[in-house]
Amino acid sequence: MLKGKNILIGVTGSIAAYKAALLVRLLVKQGAVVKVVMTDAAKEFITPLTLSTLSKNPVLSDFYNNKTEGSWNNHVELGLWADMMLIAPATAKTISGMASGFCDNLLQAVYLSARCPVMIAPAMDLDMFQHFSTKENLTTLQNNKVIVIEPNDGELASGLVGQGRMAEPEEITQAIVDYFGANKPLKGKKILITAGPTYEAIDPVRFIGNHSSGKMGIALAEEAYNLGAKVVLVCGPSSVASNDGIKRINVRSAEEMFNAAKQHYDVCDVAIMSAAVADFTPANKTDKKIKKSDANLAITLKPTVDILKTFGQQKKHQILVGFALETDNELENAKGKLKNKNADFIVLNSLQNKGAGFGHDTNQIQIIDKNNKITASGLVTKQAAAKQILEVILNTTHD
Ligand code: CTP
Repeated sequence: MLKGKNILIGVTGSIAAYKAALLVRLLVKQGAVVKVVMTDAAKEFITPLTLSTLSKNPVLSDFYNNKTEGSWNNHVELGLWADMMLIAPATAKTISGMASGFCDNLLQAVYLSARCPVMIAPAMDLDMFQHFSTKENLTTLQNNKVIVIEPNDGELASGLVGQGRMAEPEEITQAIVDYFGANKPLKGKKILITAGPTYEAIDPVRFIGNHSSGKMGIALAEEAYNLGAKVVLVCGPSSVASNDGIKRINVRSAEEMFNAAKQHYDVCDVAIMSAAVADFTPANKTDKKIKKSDANLAITLKPTVDILKTFGQQKKHQILVGFALETDNELENAKGKLKNKNADFIVLNSLQNKGAGFGHDTNQIQIIDKNNKITASGLVTKQAAAKQILEVILNTTHD
């Protein structure tokens, strides 16, 4: 259920810290990649060795690995790495620090740097939990979107009975699974995506290709996967990795891309053709390397199958999205492709925009629908552009 999710667990100094071992185990079992940050006080209750063994990652608690060498643990990177930060157990002191921005340890610095959702599982004695300051701090955190997993009622370490026992690891794991499950508007949808360039072989060592990196299509595949879709990614030669949960079929030529994509087109709900497919391929491929000679060499090219156009002709229930990469008359050409290829949307990239198009981590797009309505982005990361494209598609499916 948590395959591909990066979960950062913060462990603070409460007797409930011993339960962090089971929590790490359960999250790893669900497929999550788990890293642990612990406070010094937490080490009084559970050893870093236990948590690093179970998480299969080093446990961090200091800013510095080795002061003399100057190597340090980058709290900003850790905060950005995480898809979810979970602080369990969260003591009254840590909760107070989180609410006020007080930052005197690595865990608090990571929390302040995290852009992901944050959950806490408080653990403390009942009077501490009922104290007005703890209550106010928890309200402050909740008002700022921190999700609080309420502690349970029961016997506490002090011998008193009341609310303050950290939620059980199974309950916390379920809360995380539910959280990721609830944000899946594409659950049950099948999405086919083509991405990257194609390489058209001239002979066994040479090919005709293009500068596409595959980054835009792979960002779309990852985003669709994160929104719950079942994703098939048919990808030309690209060094960009993709999430293990995505079914990736690596291909080289336009013909291979078409043959792979057509196996999945009939059953998909949305097909997004973002690949930069070669329009021509050598008419005759030689088995042997073409040798150098002084004469001119002419290579005859024949057209490849237009995958988007073919899918447009065969379209039934699918939402079909194409891309248009243009250098001039951008809007006019893009609108022409929308019509000629019977697509529902065309995403226009202009090579005239700096930072957009091939190889960049950023893109600037215009999404054109069948009524010529245009949704434009500024210059944004390819992930943000992917989000916007999927949002526009989702809005149509809900119309
Ligand atoms: N496309 C495709 N198969 C091809 C060529 C293009 O599926 N053989 C798709 C691309 O994936 C993209 C859209 O068609 O979604 C437009 O591609 P683009 O290269 O911009 O346009 P072309 O149709 O190839 O026309 P031109 O190169 O003349 O602009």
